[in-house]
Amino acid sequence: MADERERWALILGASSGFGEATALALAADGYQIAGVHLDRRSGMAHVEEIRARIAALGREAHFFNVNAADDVQRANVLAALRERFERSEAAGRHSYIRVLLHSLAFGTLKPYLAADAADAISRKNMEMTLDVMAHSLVYWTQDLVRGGFIERGSRIYAMTSEGSSRVVGSYGAVSAAKAALESHCRQLAMELARRGIGATCNAIRAGVTVTHALMQIPERDELMEVARRRNPHGRLTTTEDVARAIVTLSRDGTEWMTGNVLGIDGGEFVTG
Ligand SMILES: NC(=O)c1ccc[n+]([C@@H]2O[C@H](COP(=O)([O-])OP(=O)(O)OC[C@H]3O[C@@H](n4cnc5c(N)ncnc54)[C@H](O)[C@@H]3O)[C@@H](O)[C@H]2O)c1
Repeated sequence: MADERERWALILGASSGFGEATALALAADGYQIAGVHLDRRSGMAHVEEIRARIAALGREAHFFNVNAADDVQRANVLAALRERFERSEAAGRHSYIRVLLHSLAFGTLKPYLAADAADAISRKNMEMTLDVMAHSLVYWTQDLVRGGFIERGSRIYAMTSEGSSRVVGSYGAVSAAKAALESHCRQLAMELARRGIGATCNAIRAGVTVTHALMQIPERDELMEVARRRNPHGRLTTTEDVARAIVTLSRDGTEWMTGNVLGIDGGEFVTG
């Protein structure tokens, strides 16, 4: 049976990296795009470029420059989306969020232990990293389900990494966030299924990929060198590798795939 509903993708982290590539790939596949991002004024020209590329594909692009971990901002974004969905409804089209992608990179890279307390991770650093990079997935999903945005066929994805189970010097809090994020995906998958909502939730473990976030990690050169050596394809993952996979996974036929950590890394993990 053809899906007559209007498909939307809500991308958290849409202005860069995996979020940007996935927003563009889903727009090319027929989705309207809502993007949440956090950029300074200097980053806004790039956001405008993304919006223009989506518009050139004949799709809508609604971008919100807000902190995705802020409850009030989340409510504002969802109110704006509600208004837009009601306009479709009035025109006889039913809209829903087919894809929610959690692709936020915002964490402290401080070590746990340092001679001077000011150089070590603080409670605030830890809580902010976990809140943005892991727990915000739960709060967005709660509101989207309650608001009726998520329905039969919806797919929820969250970007994880090998850091969920491996140690990298400056990656302590992000590592903890990735472990929590994968756990949240399993829990959401189970609760969505038990409630008969018809939506799935999976974590996506991308290989090492050149993005703004990777370039912030002090150990980036070593990470890239090791990944190139390990990856049986002899190259790093690209944001487009991941975006293409998300487009395909979001088509009909993958409704029984939920609660997984899906590797999209060209075999990097298993060759490690
Ligand atoms: N790059 C890699 O090698 C790699 C590998 C595996 C997983 N990941 C994960 O993929 C996700 C995306 O990372 P990326 O590499 O594409 O990074 P990126 O820096 O290119 O993009 C991050 C996006 O998040 C947005 N953002 C950050 N904090 C925000 C906040 N508080 N509120 C709203 N938006 C916010 C930014 O505006 C940007 O759009 C991260 O969770 C990262 O850990 C990255």
